[in-house]
Amino acid sequence: MHISVQPGPGTGYAVEIDNGLLGRLADVLQPLLPEGAPRFVLSSPRIWRLHGAAIAAGLPGPEPILVPDGERAKHLTTVQRVYDALIRGRADRSSQLVVVGGGVLGDLGGFAAATFLRGIPYVQVPTTLLAQVDSAIGGKVGVNHPLGKNLIGAFHHPRLVVSDPLVLRTLSRREFRAGLYEVVKYAVIASRPLFDQLVATLRQIVARQADLLVPIIAECCRIKAEVVAADEREQGLRRTLNFGHTVGHALEAVTKYRRFRHGEAVAYGMRAAAWIARARGALAADAHEALGELLTRMGPLPAVADLSTAACLEAMRHDKKVVRGTLHFVLPVDIGRTAIVTDVTELELATSLREVGLRI
Ligand SMILES: NC(=O)c1ccc[n+]([C@@H]2O[C@H](COP(=O)([O-])OP(=O)(O)OC[C@H]3O[C@@H](n4cnc5c(N)ncnc54)[C@H](O)[C@@H]3O)[C@@H](O)[C@H]2O)c1
Ligand SMILES: [Zn+2]
Repeated sequence: MHISVQPGPGTGYAVEIDNGLLGRLADVLQPLLPEGAPRFVLSSPRIWRLHGAAIAAGLPGPEPILVPDGERAKHLTTVQRVYDALIRGRADRSSQLVVVGGGVLGDLGGFAAATFLRGIPYVQVPTTLLAQVDSAIGGKVGVNHPLGKNLIGAFHHPRLVVSDPLVLRTLSRREFRAGLYEVVKYAVIASRPLFDQLVATLRQIVARQADLLVPIIAECCRIKAEVVAADEREQGLRRTLNFGHTVGHALEAVTKYRRFRHGEAVAYGMRAAAWIARARGALAADAHEALGELLTRMGPLPAVADLSTAACLEAMRHDKKVVRGTLHFVLPVDIGRTAIVTDVTELELATSLREVGLRI
């Protein structure tokens, strides 16, 4: 399947989604590269061990640049290693960087591409569900700073995104589920059919039944592409993508990014937001319950009973999505529809945190 993303003039690109694309990378990438221009592949030792042979078969070429992934490696020092390899390999402005990895490598490789020689073209080959439905699209790239997550970054759109759902088979169940919570997010903000599909086929999806994943990933990409096209720099509409993220980010921060996979924290955040919406009478009881049931069926989440509500509220005050003191909060008003409000009170937030299991 093919989705096109049009963030602004001259920056359009395609997202190609199909089973087995990894084995055909050279064909897919060929039209993008000028004759003779060097191509570089960036990945991690782990991903290369699992999928390197398939990638090398589909894209014969030079040795890949391998750097560690995982959140702890998402730093400028790792970017420096990518620059080193590009310089040693005599990369120039016509070179293309093909980034094969999860969201960490995608953000980091995209940032290297954004800054090396003031910007070289790059291609995203996302290998986690989270990266396929979210981080590979939208052009936000960057790394963490010791004082905070994603503080160093840029906007740099890829030339192409190539998603092969077959690579997701080697993800741990937990990692796959973490991405699936973002799929639930898209369903709740913009697609009732996607929500119904998740409810009807959750078991097969978790078993990674190939024919089911292509249209699901495509639907998420379509939604993100639509939002990004309407609002490249997160002024308004793009905020709806933050459904579940205000509380989610706070939970990640108070646990120092060690307890939750991002999607797991977002799952709590969606529950909290849905609770507030229902308490306000903005979300019907049956829709609230349908979301709760789906999240419960997806499996257990890390515990929150030891986490302090007050600490979590404090973390929300520091969220960078708080613009000039105003918290823009995404409330679900139906399955497939949200509203952005700025009048959520501390009491509502605190009560919703208690509702989802935090202590006082
Ligand atoms: N740019 C954006 O718009 C955006 C959006 C959402 C998230 N993000 C970023 O994405 C990052 C999280 O991404 P992630 O969840 O993909 O984490 P990740 O990149 O750290 O990958 C998770 C783990 O899965 C492993 N892995 C990757 N692909 C695999 C495969 N096919 N089989 C087996 N193991 C595999 C990795 O080695 C890693 O250990 C965060 O840093 C977050 O800030 C960015
Ligand atoms: Zn997210």
